[in-house]
Amino acid sequence: MKKKLHIALTTVAILIFSFNVFALTEIHIDHANTDINDKKSLQRGVKLFMNYCSGCHSIQFMRYNRIGKDLFLDDVIVAYEKAKVAMLNNQPLKHDDFMAFSRAFDSEITSLDQAKSFFEKSPKEGIKENLIKATDKVVGKNLIFTNEKVGSLITSAMSVSNANQWFGRNPDLSLVSRSKGVDWVYSYLRGFYKDDSRVFGVNNHVLKNASMPDVLWQLKQNKSSKEFDQDIRDITNFLDYVSEPAKLVRFDLGIKVLGFLFVLFIFAYLLKKEYWKDVKYGKWRAKD
Ligand code: HEC
Repeated sequence: MKKKLHIALTTVAILIFSFNVFALTEIHIDHANTDINDKKSLQRGVKLFMNYCSGCHSIQFMRYNRIGKDLFLDDVIVAYEKAKVAMLNNQPLKHDDFMAFSRAFDSEITSLDQAKSFFEKSPKEGIKENLIKATDKVVGKNLIFTNEKVGSLITSAMSVSNANQWFGRNPDLSLVSRSKGVDWVYSYLRGFYKDDSRVFGVNNHVLKNASMPDVLWQLKQNKSSKEFDQDIRDITNFLDYVSEPAKLVRFDLGIKVLGFLFVLFIFAYLLKKEYWKDVKYGKWRAKD
């Protein structure tokens, strides 16, 4: 009996001790508060990523034109639809409207009459194709800084062997927000602090002795902390989207399915009430 008590007490002591050790080594992780449906945030995020991260990190499961289709095509279509409404109402066209028409008809459009004649002779499918092509061009101009094609996978500007030699390792970021979590990525990017004992003069609260330099230090210096946090949130949001691009569709579909089930529930409930009315009041039995 004494022995059993002894074992139980020792187990409790070990458990308490290990909880304390965990508590001491626990890393502080902040809430990222990202929103995958916020397209503007994703657009800012991809620009920041291409400017500050793609030199070292690849996102090898993603292609440039997929980003164009998911994040930028809607804007191009909306601009065209706006221009179309203005044209059909014979309103004066603005510079943006001419640009939208030039993209849609894949020719330089400079007047209302020209826009109208192209609109009449262009099939809808052709216009959609032109708008996709124009989006690819926008992506090529704003996001590709190497000589890669818009259909290429997003590899890093730095070769893997160079990266391994310089930094020890150089992880691909396609799935990082799934493997480590969005909050982790957000906290990691905000977690750099000065430490002269390290090669790049910085260390990280979240990933101790990380071999990544604080690449965003200029942003941190030149912006308010609120703006800086927003930049990091945008990059994190973008990495969340990259790790599962279908999330945009999945969430949209999920809401529609739930809506459908809700409507179905109302009818199913009314039907059930109708059936059970007879059972409850015995009419159904009386008929037999
Ligand atoms: C100068 C090269 C370089 C640049 C630029 C760079 N990183 Fe890194 N990054 C690294 C290296 C090297 C590591 C590996 C750190 C380690 O494990 O010690 C790393 C690690 C990471 C990790 C952790 C991945 C993991 O699985 O452990 C994330 C997330 C990350 N970087 C995001 C970014 C983002 C976002 C940017 C752009 C704002 C960026 N990095 C820019 C070199 C770089």
